[in-house]
Amino acid sequence: MELKIYKDKNEVATAFSSYFADFVKDKDQVHVALSGGSTPKIVFDVLASKYGDEVDWSSIHFYWGDERCVPPDDSESNYKMTVDHLFSKIQIPKENIHRILGESDPNGEAMRYANLLEINLDRVEGVPQFDLVILGMGDDGHTASIFPHQIELWEAEDHCVVATHPESGQKRVSINGKVINTTKEVAFLVTGHGKAEKIEVITQKKEGFEKYPASLVNPASGNLLWFLDKDAASLI
Ligand code: 6PG
Repeated sequence: MELKIYKDKNEVATAFSSYFADFVKDKDQVHVALSGGSTPKIVFDVLASKYGDEVDWSSIHFYWGDERCVPPDDSESNYKMTVDHLFSKIQIPKENIHRILGESDPNGEAMRYANLLEINLDRVEGVPQFDLVILGMGDDGHTASIFPHQIELWEAEDHCVVATHPESGQKRVSINGKVINTTKEVAFLVTGHGKAEKIEVITQKKEGFEKYPASLVNPASGNLLWFLDKDAASLI
């Protein structure tokens, strides 16, 4: 686990964009799972503006680690957020974008997406292997859409699961912990004071840390990076 701490969100975005451009450089084909929520917005903006012309986007296949079960034009959609902040600003072939189509049949889509991953990605002991998974972390210590109240989904047999947001009840499709921990490299993007308490508990393995899904991210490769701003890292 490598903690990379930066002054603010802008510096996190700049540092991560440079890391991402370097990660994909000179690779014929890269399979990347994106996180959702709001943190990626500034990161995608910086990535598009600083590296839009430098990165060979045709070599990258984009997936999502999780998606809300809403239409693709819904303000809650992680796909829409990514189009608005990244895909609309770069030259990327449409066939390289693998959206989670959870709006109509979450359970059916979880199965379809799991099959898609098994077809598109190399497998390690039967588990699809991403080259890179980008994760966020909620104030409650969730990651992707594996929430503390459904932590059993982390070890689900199915590689994609249907989760439920603890407050809103919103259905979500999410990759499970086995897929996350099979990934070659995992990068967390976590900023803001609201995350500081869980960052302390999880990264310092304080009492009760294991009840938070983000603490279970431990790729077999050992390649786990945390991109944090000072606010999120204020207690460590
Ligand atoms: C989602 C995410 C989720 C997110 C965290 C942090 O679909 O919401 O994938 O895991 O990364 O909730 O969200 P913020 O970046 O908005 O704090």
